[in-house]
Amino acid sequence: MRGWDEAIREAHQGLEDKIRALEKSLHLDIAPEDLWVTVRHLILDVKHALEAHLEEEERVFFPPLEQLIESEAGAIRMLKDQHRQLRGALRYLMSIHQEAGWMDMKEIRLVAEGMTDFLLEHEKVEERLLLDVLGFNMSRRDLKGLDGQIRHEEVLQ
Ligand SMILES: [Fe+2]
Ligand SMILES: [Fe+2]
Repeated sequence: MRGWDEAIREAHQGLEDKIRALEKSLHLDIAPEDLWVTVRHLILDVKHALEAHLEEEERVFFPPLEQLIESEAGAIRMLKDQHRQLRGALRYLMSIHQEAGWMDMKEIRLVAEGMTDFLLEHEKVEERLLLDVLGFNMSRRDLKGLDGQIRHEEVLQ
């Protein structure tokens, strides 16, 4: 079984792939109805994966991180705030695509591109904090405990 650190990296890569697939789909030269179905499918794909990932990080990883670096509460506040912003972008993306049978592709493209940049930046900072701080400061036993708490299948979806 993969460890928690590898699972985080893979989850981040998986999210990046999904959001890039969505971005790419917005440039497809296909019939509008087909484009609508494809884009809708990919938006939902991003939504489900991102929501599950954010929830898991907040449930499994942020609490021990918070305990370990009380002196750096600002860093965790920033991660949480970024999660809030990602959820906001997700809600906005959903609201654009829910307009019955019609989607503002230009707007979706803008939001998706903004989300990609934001997500990549977030994951970079987060990996440093989670992997380094938890990895160096928690005992092997406690780290093993993290392995047991993550839902591997969902993270990888
Ligand atoms: Fe995160
Ligand atoms: Fe993350």
